[in-house]
Amino acid sequence: MQETRAEPQEASKPMKRRAGIGENALPMKEITTDSHIYQTTGIGELDRVLGGGIVEGALILVGGEPGIGKSTLLLQMSASLSRMGKKVLYISGEESLRQIKLRARRLGDDETDILLLSENAMDNVREKLETLKPDYCVVDSVQTMYLPEMSSAPGSVSQVRESAAILMRYAKESGCGVILVGHVTKEGALAGPRVLEHMVDAVLYFEGDKTHEYRLLRAAKNRFGSVNELGVFEMASDGMREVKNASESLLSSRARGASGSCVVCAMEGTRPVLVDIQALATRSYYQVPRRTVNGMDNSRVILLLAVMEKRAGLRLYDKDVYINVAGGLDLTEPAADLAVCCSVASSMCDRPLPPDVCVVGEVGLAGEIRAVPRLERRVQECARLGFTRVICPRDSASRLKAVPEVEVRGVDTIAQAFAVLDVFPSRQG
Ligand code: TYD
Ligand code: MG
Repeated sequence: MQETRAEPQEASKPMKRRAGIGENALPMKEITTDSHIYQTTGIGELDRVLGGGIVEGALILVGGEPGIGKSTLLLQMSASLSRMGKKVLYISGEESLRQIKLRARRLGDDETDILLLSENAMDNVREKLETLKPDYCVVDSVQTMYLPEMSSAPGSVSQVRESAAILMRYAKESGCGVILVGHVTKEGALAGPRVLEHMVDAVLYFEGDKTHEYRLLRAAKNRFGSVNELGVFEMASDGMREVKNASESLLSSRARGASGSCVVCAMEGTRPVLVDIQALATRSYYQVPRRTVNGMDNSRVILLLAVMEKRAGLRLYDKDVYINVAGGLDLTEPAADLAVCCSVASSMCDRPLPPDVCVVGEVGLAGEIRAVPRLERRVQECARLGFTRVICPRDSASRLKAVPEVEVRGVDTIAQAFAVLDVFPSRQG
């Protein structure tokens, strides 16, 4: 429970009316639309997640754990916009101008015209915005901003909400694209940014282990685009580097020829990514065997283990099973089911899968393989990366246009998939 105090209602002040907003309700067919104009940020992966770029007057929240790279990416974005001739104001409540300059030097972006401001007080921020009239503004972070007239501490729910409300009003009135940074903790204790989700036009979250070099940017909400897109970055010594070829990077350190590894082609939005799923099944010395899952839903894996035990005869009840999705990616798609089963079976009988095989398919409770969407896109990605065989649901396979170089093999059940891949449980030890 967090105590919040009722404050003078700053947010409820009437907004200046924007052009085009009439007094009366209008029939829909009489309303004219001019489609959104997206300003590219010059960073392709960021544009992809934003739905094409930043729309005029948009308020965008970029959340993530401290240290994940929010400030770095937004400084790079500011520099890129500035090089395109846009006026960008970068307001930091956390770092001094010197610190920002030093960071920019590391990124090779220090010779740009970005306007830097080190400020915490919202009334000054608003004043500066009104005099400078930037095209884009970054506020890093919204938790450090405060309204002096409010008694609660900076970072409290009411301060964060009021500060964001002021910035929203400014964005909508002036057409300036405002990007807010919000810190989020690992436990998802988001007192700050979560309360803003309903106010802003788009919410982007940075994910990824700080111990992994990959940083994944996902949209949790976007009024101007799809929320399924994924942006992949890599934290390098000179800032966030775009990873355009995600599949190749994710597979680069794959243990070829080892048992318990299976490649799946998962869809992240409209983009196919090849990911290595690793499984380790070992004899258990515990009363209750362990199931440890990294990068997937735990209960989904337990369900799959039960299906394998019942429908394909794998003896798993006395085995500890560990599943890891390589690269720090989080797979949510059921199309990864069959690959999990194959990697477990491969580990059980200690027979590696052929290195040029990719597996996709959802597994049902009867052990049947169910259709997956966008199979053609997935098969094309497999072909691009030199995979020559794809094991997939028979149903989807029959509707697929042939892709040269790739042999597509449809299967009906997990037992069939195991037989095709020669990881049949009869060999298990
Ligand atoms: P930062 O952008 O400050 O994170 P956030 O704003 O989300 O809190 O990123 C900080 C981390 O990134 C820090 O641990 C150092 C690392 N880093 C690099 O590896 N390379 C770089 O070029 C920069 C600027 C930072
Ligand atoms: Mg920061």
